[in-house]
Amino acid sequence: MTSRRLAIVIGGSGGIGRALAQRLSDDTAYDHVLTLSRRRPEGWDDSLRRSWFPADILDEESLDRAARHAARLGAPSRILVATGRLHGAGLAPEKTMRSLDLAALTALFATNAAGPALAAKHFLPLTPRDQPSVFAALSARVGSIGDNQLGGWYGYRAAKAALNMLIHTLAIEHRRTRPLGLCVALHPGTVDTDLSAPFQSGVAREALFSPDQSAENLLAVLEGLRAEHNGGFFAWDGTPVPW
Ligand SMILES: NC(=O)c1ccc[n+]([C@@H]2O[C@H](COP(=O)([O-])OP(=O)(O)OC[C@H]3O[C@@H](n4cnc5c(N)ncnc54)[C@H](OP(=O)(O)O)[C@@H]3O)[C@@H](O)[C@H]2O)c1
Repeated sequence: MTSRRLAIVIGGSGGIGRALAQRLSDDTAYDHVLTLSRRRPEGWDDSLRRSWFPADILDEESLDRAARHAARLGAPSRILVATGRLHGAGLAPEKTMRSLDLAALTALFATNAAGPALAAKHFLPLTPRDQPSVFAALSARVGSIGDNQLGGWYGYRAAKAALNMLIHTLAIEHRRTRPLGLCVALHPGTVDTDLSAPFQSGVAREALFSPDQSAENLLAVLEGLRAEHNGGFFAWDGTPVPW
């Protein structure tokens, strides 16, 4: 199958990733949406317009297999990386330097920074040379050094700051061969997903987006991007976030 407009969502099993994949597959501007994740997203049935393929961003062989599969579907005009990790087994955001732990820091850096960069390594070469395309990775405002007033959350903050640098650097290299190709980092706002669930108590109701609202916001930001935005870091409403 070849696609006129192919969109790829990496991390399609997550709260925001699932909603992004759904919105893209409801949009007839896309011929096909390929979603990649370790497990099939809930309720995601393959059809002519959408499909799932296994991929683990921390396993380069699996990324290579997934990229070769994607190449058979066409040249993607959208690649969205919606993977990420904040808490889980052995992982809790640090409130103090006394909690800093090598294994936890390494795990956060792997999933939030190295994984999306490896995804870029395997998927950016699939983008068209002579058509506009966007590669967007979900970062977080807490990864902004300039915006950090509160402290804490060392590992997640630092990993997202590293992701932002990786995306900015990828953007510079990518534009040499794809002048119409953009790479950006996005802050989705606070979104009601498993990732934010333990930390929602202090968030005002109107400041907590549903995954579907978040996906709508983020896709609108991508539609508004121009060449001068390449390598930037943008919030859910399109405003630039300080590094
Ligand atoms: N929710 C928020 O309020 C918020 C705020 C700011 C930024 N963000 C960022 O937005 C992104 C999406 O977050 P979310 O809220 O949708 O979280 P989520 O529901 O927990 O989804 C995270 C996704 O990452 C995937 N993932 C983790 N490690 C992976 C790996 N090695 N290979 C493949 N997939 C992997 C998970 O897959 P599995 O299902 O296989 O574990 C899951 O699909 C993250 O980068 C997060 O940091 C979220």
